[in-house]
Amino acid sequence: MTADATSRPSPFTMIGESPALQAVVRSARLVAATDATVLVLGESGTGKELLARLVHATSRRARGPWVALNCAALPEDLVESELFGYRRGAFTGAQADTPGRLQQAHGGTLFLDEVAELPLAAQAKLLRVLEYGECQALGARRAERVDVRILAATHRDLHRQVAAGAFREDLFYRLHVIPLELPPLRERDGDLPLLVDHFAAALAARHGVAAPRFTAALLKRLATHDWPGNVRELRNLVERCVVLLHGRALSPDDLPSHWLATPSGRSDDAPVWQLPAGGVSLEALEGQLIRQALDQSGGNRSRAARLLGLTRDTLLYRMKKHAIA
Ligand SMILES: Nc1ncnc2c1ncn2[C@@H]1O[C@H](COP(=O)(O)OP(=O)(O)OP(=O)(O)O)[C@@H](O)[C@H]1O
Ligand SMILES: [Mg+2]
Repeated sequence: MTADATSRPSPFTMIGESPALQAVVRSARLVAATDATVLVLGESGTGKELLARLVHATSRRARGPWVALNCAALPEDLVESELFGYRRGAFTGAQADTPGRLQQAHGGTLFLDEVAELPLAAQAKLLRVLEYGECQALGARRAERVDVRILAATHRDLHRQVAAGAFREDLFYRLHVIPLELPPLRERDGDLPLLVDHFAAALAARHGVAAPRFTAALLKRLATHDWPGNVRELRNLVERCVVLLHGRALSPDDLPSHWLATPSGRSDDAPVWQLPAGGVSLEALEGQLIRQALDQSGGNRSRAARLLGLTRDTLLYRMKKHAIA
């Protein structure tokens, strides 16, 4: 699974030799040979999308389409038309018959990312797809057959979403047939240096510079970090080193302390959150933070409000604004 000097890793190679990662990759290869629905679980940045792509790429559908939909990225009222498609005249502005992601994925794989955010109405329709292989476009008289394998992913605790009434239990069981859970980076013994090497080489090639060398002392320092953003956080750190410190041998002192995210125990003058160079949508970020606070507080709104420094009323107002039930 790991890159060596002679073979370049395919774009969907999961780097890592830790037993925790290898167990998941092995299961992924086993299920890839079937048409089973798979639910990929794991903290943010653990490689859920990469694993899903690996399943598709090693399945018999590899030559068919790979279609992805991020259920958290669309407003609730657009999810259904985007997913199931619509007929001309189904709603104002529906000017022509338009296939949804499901129809686009016919013969291939549909990746439903952040599936926990799927609105309840769409969940009911998705269940029909999974149970009967049928999909009904908005405004269509009848359902049509689709041949699509569904892979879904979430960083959330879906059990909890079911208990909170935000996720259909029947759909949960239908999706949960084969759960693949990616371990957090801090639990993958020995993988960190392999990932650092892999990213340093790949990103140096991409940026056209010489890779920096990570000394043993620096690797040791990195191993003590918690990596709340997991592999993505590590990749971003390596990319900063490649771009700003390329060609050098790096020791722990070369690493500005704020380059390692420290969500807990941080010093007061450090920013709580670093704006990525590409910017963010503040609106979407607000929705995400509210959902995370509700997650962390087990749905307790007063506690969630405290986590966000809001009054309970303000939180309720903003939940309504983001259509969070
Ligand atoms: N084991 C791995 N080997 C190589 N690259 C990896 C590995 N795991 C993750 N990555 C890379 O790290 C980044 C984050 O991975 P990915 O987008 O799959 O995570 P995710 O779990 O879907 O994150 P999120 O929950 O935030 O959506 C990507 O650039 C991915 O290619
Ligand atoms: Mg993802």
